[in-house]
Amino acid sequence: MLSDALFNKFRSLIYEKTGINLSPEKKELLQARLGKRLRACSIASFKEYYKLVASNQEGPEFTHFVNSVSTNFTSFFREQAHFSFLEEIILPQFEEINSGNRNPIKVWSAACSSGEEPYTLAMVLEEYFLRNPGRGYRITATDISTKVLEQAKKGIYTADRLEKVPDSYLRKYFQKGVGRSAGYLRIKKEFFPNIQFLHFNLMEQFPWKSEIDVIFCRNVMIYFDRLTQQQMVNKFYDCLVPGGYLMIGHSESISSFRHSFRQKAATVFSK
Ligand SMILES: C[S@@+](CC[C@H](N)C(=O)[O-])C[C@H]1O[C@@H](n2cnc3c(N)ncnc32)[C@H](O)[C@@H]1O
Repeated sequence: MLSDALFNKFRSLIYEKTGINLSPEKKELLQARLGKRLRACSIASFKEYYKLVASNQEGPEFTHFVNSVSTNFTSFFREQAHFSFLEEIILPQFEEINSGNRNPIKVWSAACSSGEEPYTLAMVLEEYFLRNPGRGYRITATDISTKVLEQAKKGIYTADRLEKVPDSYLRKYFQKGVGRSAGYLRIKKEFFPNIQFLHFNLMEQFPWKSEIDVIFCRNVMIYFDRLTQQQMVNKFYDCLVPGGYLMIGHSESISSFRHSFRQKAATVFSK
């Protein structure tokens, strides 16, 4: 059993390292998830496991610890309005304003989970630039969880996860598995040499200054407390080019924070 006192110690450790603010109701969930790590490491108690991760925060078990506490739900074309806004408003606007600029549009999927969000972006951008040859694009997709990043890099999904992908995209960008891989589809990565997957913790300093054109940071700030969210919104502002865009999740809001963004649509902001 995970005691309340030890749960609070795990919570503090998770908060300090990842910004994730686990509510007291998450105790059972954490107990179940860490229970699996105890068995994997042949460790007898949560106390012993706490000592292991707290004393070695750069070690391999700490990575598993973080992987097991993050919530990774995602889907292709999740919150479709953002992709329509990108295609119909942002990309034509970038071409108009920066018609002489031939640098690829830089897009950051800032908590990309198992890849559905950056691959959706890639398909939308690919199709847009086929119809309107121009700057092209580059996507950097990052997440704190090494587990989901490995899935993202593989780009293999069960058929039920592709329900929202239009048929024409399915035919063009996915390969159906056969034999032992029946029921799975693999994204044809040869179409997308311009996606880079990187391990990155949003609590760190961001490595860009006025460089990114569009940031998708959706359904992750909701796990952070207000102060962390406020700081993050300002860090996003700094790394965007003037006129760049930030998309946040539809259940997230930055309206009560002090920031310099202009709101362009529900959950869409520009610098
Ligand atoms: C619910 S998923 C959202 C995925 C995608 N953006 C979407 O909207 O469908 C949240 C992701 O945020 C990641 N995450 C949580 N804390 C993070 C942090 N401090 N730095 C980077 N990623 C983090 C989790 O690992 C998880 O994959």
